[in-house]
This record gives sequence, C-alpha cells and structure tokens, in this order.
Amino acid sequence: MTTALLSGTPTGADDLSVWPASTARLPHGDLAVGGVPLTGIADRFDTPAYVLDEGEVRARCRTYREAFPDADVLYAAKAFLSRAMARWVAEEGLGLDACSAGELELAVASGVPAERIVLHGNAKSPRDIGTALRLGVGRIVIDSPSEIARLVAAVGRGGRQKVMLRVVPGIAAGAHEKIRTGTDGQKFGLSLTDGSAQHAVPRILAQPGLELTGLHCHIGSQITEVKPYAAALRRMVGLMARIRDAHGVVLPELDMGGGHGIAYRPGEPALDLAVLARRLRAELAASCAAARLPVPRLAVEPGRAVVGPAGVALYRVLSVKHTAGRVFVAVDGGMGDNPRPALYGARYAPRLVGRRSVAAPCAATVAGRHCEAGDVLAAGVQLPGDLRPGDLLAVPVAGAYQLSMASGYNMVGRPPLVAVHAGTARLLVRRETLSDFRSRDVGA
Ligand code: LLP
Repeated sequence: MTTALLSGTPTGADDLSVWPASTARLPHGDLAVGGVPLTGIADRFDTPAYVLDEGEVRARCRTYREAFPDADVLYAAKAFLSRAMARWVAEEGLGLDACSAGELELAVASGVPAERIVLHGNAKSPRDIGTALRLGVGRIVIDSPSEIARLVAAVGRGGRQKVMLRVVPGIAAGAHEKIRTGTDGQKFGLSLTDGSAQHAVPRILAQPGLELTGLHCHIGSQITEVKPYAAALRRMVGLMARIRDAHGVVLPELDMGGGHGIAYRPGEPALDLAVLARRLRAELAASCAAARLPVPRLAVEPGRAVVGPAGVALYRVLSVKHTAGRVFVAVDGGMGDNPRPALYGARYAPRLVGRRSVAAPCAATVAGRHCEAGDVLAAGVQLPGDLRPGDLLAVPVAGAYQLSMASGYNMVGRPPLVAVHAGTARLLVRRETLSDFRSRDVGA
C-alpha cells in the first residue's frame, strides 16, 4: 500500500523525511517515534508535550564522531540541556559548550567531565567564572578585553586557566539577522577587521595565569553551506600565522563553533556534515601548509544538528476558526514553548496524527494560545480541511531552541519532555505547574 493510501492525505503531507529515523506509521494515522505511539504519549503525559528520541540523539552524536574523528565535538548545550541529554552526549564521546553557571553545574553533575567543557558568553557573570574555575572547566573563551583582567583576578596567583579568544572573522552567514555572529556590528567576540582580536593576544600571553590554547569563532546559526566555514577557517589560520610571526607562539587549537543547519520542512537543505568535515580538514591542511604552521586540533560546537531533528512537539487543537477567508487552528501551546517563529520567522511542518482524514487539505495558520497576535507556530501550512478541536498535531524538528527558550508567558507553564527509546517512554522533565508559579511568587 502506498503512503498516500495509508494516510488518506496527499503524499506531500505524509512526507516523514524530517522526522526521526525511528518514525513509523501506525494504523489510524498514528505515528510511533522510538517505538512509542504519539497518541499514547499525548494521553499519558497530556499536551502540549515534547518528545525526544534518545536513539536519534545518540545516532547524531555518532555521526559527528565519525565525520570528525580527529576533532573535538562539543555539544552546544543552549540548544537543549537536561540531565539525560548531558549523559547521552557524554557517553557518545562529545564534550560540551556551556554558557552559564547553570549549564555548567548541570553538565558536571550529570557526568560530563569538566575538562571536556568550554565556557562561552559575551557577558560572563562573576558566578559563571567562579563556577567554571571551581569545577575545572577545560577552556574559557574570552569575548572582550575587559574579561582578561577579570579572569586573571579570579584565577588568582599561582593558578592557571586554559583560555581561547573569540574572533569575529568578518564572514556573513546564518539564517536570520538575529543569529548571525560572523561579522562586526554584533555583540560577540573581537574583530579581526579592526585589529581588536590581534591586540588582545599579547595581553593574554602576558598573563602567567592564563594559557592561550587557541582561537574560536562562531559565525552564525542555521547555516546550510560549507563555503562560509571554509572562508572563516582561512581567516582564522591567517590570524594564527600572524600571532606566530608577532609573538613566536604557535597556538595548538582552533574551534570553529557550531551553526550547522538542518531541514525543518521536507525538501529544505541541511548542512552535509561529511562534506563540511572533509572541506574543513582540507582547508586546514592547505592553509597551515601555506603559512608553515602545524595543523591545530580542530573543535566544532553543534547544537541544533544534534538535538533538533530528535524532537517532536505535540499539541491538542483547541479551536478551529474560519475568519475573513483564513483558517486559524489554535493549539494548547505556542510562543511560550516555541518562540522561534515569532523571533526568527522560523517555518515548521505540523501534521495531524492519530486520525486518518480524507478531507482535502486547506491552507491554515496554526496559532498558539497566548494573548498576542504574533503567537503563530506555523503560517500557510496545508492541513486536512476537517481539522477539529481535540485533534492532535505533531511538529517535527522540535528538539532545539524550543524548550530551552520556553518562557512562563501567560502563566501557561512549560511543557514536559518525554524521552522515547526502544518502545518505552519516560518523563525527563515534568510539566511546569501552577504551583511552580505560586511557589516562586513570594511577595505578599
Ligand atoms: N557555539 C556558540 C559559541 C554558539 O553561540 C552557538 C549558538 C553554538 C555553538 C551552536 O549553534 P547551533 O549549532 O545550535 O546552530 N535561538 C536560535 C539559535 C541561537 C544560536 C546561539 N548560539 C534559534 O533558535 O535558531
């Protein structure tokens, strides 16, 4: 039987290419992820709920280890972090990119070796720095000149901390202006173009308490082409050569950051990791040979590409409104659990699960339940024309920057996270309840 016959919807609407590899079609329009029916998860844990396929996360970690066997792969915890997630990535041999004391504490408590963690941040608080030093974090990435003195003071006499320098290489890349960090005029890093990166180097080298192990750059996020990475890498190696010439120091490490793009909807491009790895290796070898530099150890920091495609968001339809020629399908979540459409114009491909519809698809806007008009999860999507309250909608590629960016807006409460693996579902993070809100509100 063909896919279209099974689901009763046109083939395009039944495309599972951006879903976790474990996704399987079940009778009555249901889908199983990690061997667990999504309708069962909605019944057991209620909606909205996030589902994370452990096998998909682990497989993606392994793909990285295989593509970059000689590099350090550091999972960018900002995409999503929980105790289980930290454990999975550590067990798969990845390190971690953390950007707060909170992420550091959770990662180390979950078994990520501190020396495999890199601390980032354009504005590290005294607590961030204190926590990093106490836990013995592997690298701290210096983001501004003033941080040098602060770090030296925090390390103290006789102490020594490995650091890297975040450089802005002047390369424009990334899916949206708000996630482009490779050029001047944004808050991160020190510019290569105006010389501030070069100026910071001797200041760091002069500090006995700091050991400069290498350079770092992160040019942006949701990048689907290899070219900007190759261009950035050449500039970074150029700076390493100039540092060698000016200071006689050969830096042994080069961290090229993350930003590896994924497909959110069928047919969208994704960054090809094997191609990226091959190209970076080749560019590194060629640029280093040309500059007569030894090849530094490479690091990459993927967040989205590790966890994004492993997640699925589940929502219950609360209302369907036909108004002024448009169809609004309102669900029980929204910008409180996924601010990405509102922030970056991110597009998703929600679908009906748990019921087979034979109705013709129609263009609809999937709206959230929050009190503002911008609370839209997916505009202009094709959904069955007979969608009704009580239906279940599932949104694939929901694992990155959704729960980690979820808010308490309208006191709705953040959804739970359910891990699925080998036919079993288990709660990783429980739903935020009204009593959570009440217990934080300590005023009279
Ligand atoms: N390394 C550094 C220093 C970063 O700042 C980031 C992301 C990453 C690695 C990981 O980037 P990824 O591989 O996940 O693209 N909230 C936005 C994305 C913000 C990215 C911030 N930094 C979104 O939802 O698209």
